[in-house]
Amino acid sequence: MAFAVSSKIIFFLFLFLFVLSATAQRYVTSGSSITANKTNSAWESSSGEFAFGFRQIIPGGYLLAIWFNRIPERTIVWSANRDNLVQEGSKVQLADGRFDLRDPRGQQMWAAPVSLDRVAYEPCLTLSFENPTDTLLPTQRLDRGVVLVSSFSETNYSKGRFLFNLQNDGNLVSATRNFPMDGPSFVYWSTQTNGSGSQLIFNQSGYIFLAAENGTVLDFVSQSEALSSQLYQRAILEYDGVLRHYVYPKSANSSGGREMAWSTVEFIPVNICASMADAKLGFGACGLNSVCSWGSDNIPQCKCPPGYSIIDLNDRMSGCKPNFVAQNCDEGALETDHFSFIDMPNTHWPYAAYGQFSPIPEDLCREYCLNDCFCNIAVYRDGYCWKLQHPLINGRTGPREEGLGLTKAMIKVRNNNATAYSSVFKKCKSSPLIIIGSVFLGSSMFLLSSLLLYFFCFNRQKSKSLQPYQDLPGLNIRRFSFKELQVATNGFKEELGRGACSTVYKGILKNDNIEAVIAVKKLHKMATEGEQEFKAEVNSISSTNHKNLVQLLGYCEEGQNWVLVYEFMSNGSLAKLLFENSRPNWYKRIQIAFATARGICYLHEECKNQIIHCDIKPQNVLLDDSFTAKISDFGLAKLLKPDQSKTTTGIRGTKGYVAPEWFKNMPITVKVDVYSFGILLLELICCRRNYEPEVEVENEMILADFAYDCYKEGTMHLLVADDDEALGDKRFDKFVMIAIWCIQEEPTLRPTMKRVMQLMEGSVEVPIPPDPTSFITSV
Ligand SMILES: *[C@@H]1O[C@H](CO)[C@@H](O)[C@H](O)[C@H]1NC(C)=O
Ligand SMILES: *[C@@H]1O[C@H](CO)[C@@H](O)[C@H](O)[C@H]1NC(C)=O
Ligand SMILES: *[C@@H]1O[C@H](CO)[C@@H](O)[C@H](O)[C@H]1NC(C)=O
Ligand SMILES: *[C@@H]1O[C@H](CO)[C@@H](O)[C@H](O)[C@H]1NC(C)=O
Ligand SMILES: *[C@@H]1O[C@H](CO)[C@@H](O)[C@H](O)[C@H]1NC(C)=O
Ligand SMILES: *[C@@H]1O[C@H](CO)[C@@H](O)[C@H](O)[C@H]1NC(C)=O
Ligand SMILES: *[C@@H]1O[C@H](CO)[C@@H](O)[C@H](O)[C@H]1NC(C)=O
Repeated sequence: MAFAVSSKIIFFLFLFLFVLSATAQRYVTSGSSITANKTNSAWESSSGEFAFGFRQIIPGGYLLAIWFNRIPERTIVWSANRDNLVQEGSKVQLADGRFDLRDPRGQQMWAAPVSLDRVAYEPCLTLSFENPTDTLLPTQRLDRGVVLVSSFSETNYSKGRFLFNLQNDGNLVSATRNFPMDGPSFVYWSTQTNGSGSQLIFNQSGYIFLAAENGTVLDFVSQSEALSSQLYQRAILEYDGVLRHYVYPKSANSSGGREMAWSTVEFIPVNICASMADAKLGFGACGLNSVCSWGSDNIPQCKCPPGYSIIDLNDRMSGCKPNFVAQNCDEGALETDHFSFIDMPNTHWPYAAYGQFSPIPEDLCREYCLNDCFCNIAVYRDGYCWKLQHPLINGRTGPREEGLGLTKAMIKVRNNNATAYSSVFKKCKSSPLIIIGSVFLGSSMFLLSSLLLYFFCFNRQKSKSLQPYQDLPGLNIRRFSFKELQVATNGFKEELGRGACSTVYKGILKNDNIEAVIAVKKLHKMATEGEQEFKAEVNSISSTNHKNLVQLLGYCEEGQNWVLVYEFMSNGSLAKLLFENSRPNWYKRIQIAFATARGICYLHEECKNQIIHCDIKPQNVLLDDSFTAKISDFGLAKLLKPDQSKTTTGIRGTKGYVAPEWFKNMPITVKVDVYSFGILLLELICCRRNYEPEVEVENEMILADFAYDCYKEGTMHLLVADDDEALGDKRFDKFVMIAIWCIQEEPTLRPTMKRVMQLMEGSVEVPIPPDPTSFITSV
């Protein structure tokens, strides 16, 4: 009885004799060897149908394999070193009753015993039968415990992601491999013959079946009508997880036409996408974030949702990544009007949901997802809504899938994708001379916003000597008469500075016995609108203060005269310190960097209403008697209501310090200040202006570009020339990296100011910053 024949005896049916094809030597004898090199020498079986030798898989990487030798495809059926390709010059030798594979240095890479008396016949097939890789051949029998492991891909023979295993309990299963480990993860096909399955048999008529110990057929894997002996056959667990039984006409040997190819007789499972339906772990039949659909060619198709693309084109299961920058999760900064949904009918990732709602209408489902930065995809069916989150596992699509007919996935994508952004900014960057900014100072909103800001973050202590502003109960801000300020400034005599819309004068305020030096900013143009609104708003502002903000002491509003009164900063601006005098020492610069960061951080994080300064630059950072830096000039600032996280407005700020989103009609968030701070930080580190047309070397003209180039090339010392203090401080490299993070073109990639503080203080490691102009998504 055929089933009683042991697997060992089967081998003799082949009567393979191996000859060295490259030489005239007829038999493979003990001591014979093959070297992995371009001559492609191999041992042929006596029939000539199979060959054993090295195959070059990648340049310089050889696989010791057995293949069909008479067909143009030379299809590999077994290999010795699939996970460990050997170099050119490696050698396999038959000696002392075993095969021995050694690399050129003589190190053993693989070995397998061969019983010598059989060597003259079929050592080759013995190997492949006893230790199969992913392929079964006719007459082969698998005992319990044997495992086939699929290849990684069509061209990469390394162990891949699927298993086919006659388990020790007698059950024959296909399972996902717990990649990169070896065990099974999810069984997607099985004969359910635990306890009874004994041997898997592939007989020469082309039947592949599982037999019980007594020979009874328990289940067929492939059951076509008897196949002609004029066909080559093989069954392989392919890289896509499907076990396919193939045939190839023997007449189509290498002299035959190339149009012949392996054709499928039968395959399991019937639809691997559907078979994976219950996989709660792993990547299903396709990669993460992808969807599987069973193609009409009986091959599972892996697709990416709209707005996503595959990570590695050479690996169908590498998964999909969004082509856009993820939604901002910072508190109050959800960019809801920047995202919309693309429908993907008949699609679901049943085990990727982290939220479910019912009954709700479809548009509410979308809205829930839109307002949740963790939600990547919403799925809707018949009043049910699911929120899905990356990585999306085991997705399915296609009308052929049962139960998907009424299910619709709605893919959340960013409207203006990353590519669009960066191309816009490249244009802006190449023309750094665009003049923007101070012309907007004259807007009628100027005074209003200035006052709001200052009242808001107002210092009670310092203004004790001043009378409270009667119209604004609870706030220690003083209303001056114009006459009073005329006296204090001696008729607006000593000019400290001049802007497009205002001039600042020095003054001395005498109040009882206290004398205070003040800076008086007189506006050229008048703002009369919005006064009511201004007063109403001020009532809602609580008084706060910060030592790194210049204090507003009071104001004057008399007819055409609008004046703001500040504390006087005796050491002028940071711009003067950095660019006009000799280089201030490194430690002083570091201190100023910290103080400026703290001031901005306070505006962004600690005020009741978030404030965007919009014009951070060295000219607006002032230094007091002890060189403590304080941020000034809120003329362009925006105050955001608690429920507001962004705003749209005309371009503000000063060239060179302005974040790219100003040019892109994108909403303005606190991240514009982070960008400007990044530029300021670079200027502080390097003691030069961001834009210096005078430098000889062209690529040093724009400091931001120069800094990244230096960082990338490891030549950061060029940034500070002979500044030994800076070079000797560990923080130097770190601060440059922080600055590069701050000047990322993509606002969401920039850290928050709070994060910047943590990075500067060293409580958090600074990650490697990406190229500011590239859009590396942080998904
Ligand atoms: C290549 O391998 C063959 C057979 O293994 C051997 O005879 C030949 O010397 C090798 N050639 C080189 C250049 O190593
Ligand atoms: C094949 O895939 C494995 C698993 O990802 C990888 O480690 C290996 O480098 C790949 N080999 C080749 C030749 O590409
Ligand atoms: C087969 O496996 C199932 C589930 O694992 C188990 O319930 C059943 O008892 C097993 N049968 C035998 C005969 O081992
Ligand atoms: C053979 O074994 C199977 C399963 O173990 C059993 O169901 C069947 O009855 C047996 N047949 C004979 C003829 O013993
Ligand atoms: C192969 O197996 C099938 C099914 O058990 C059987 O009908 C056929 O005769 C077998 N062929 C050979 C050559 O053993
Ligand atoms: C191709 O097959 C034919 C018969 O099928 C045979 O005569 C011929 O020798 C074969 N050619 C090669 C190169 O094996
Ligand atoms: C991104 O924008 C470009 C140009 O507008 C467009 O061709 C591309 O399809 C967009 N990509 C996505 C994912 O929307």
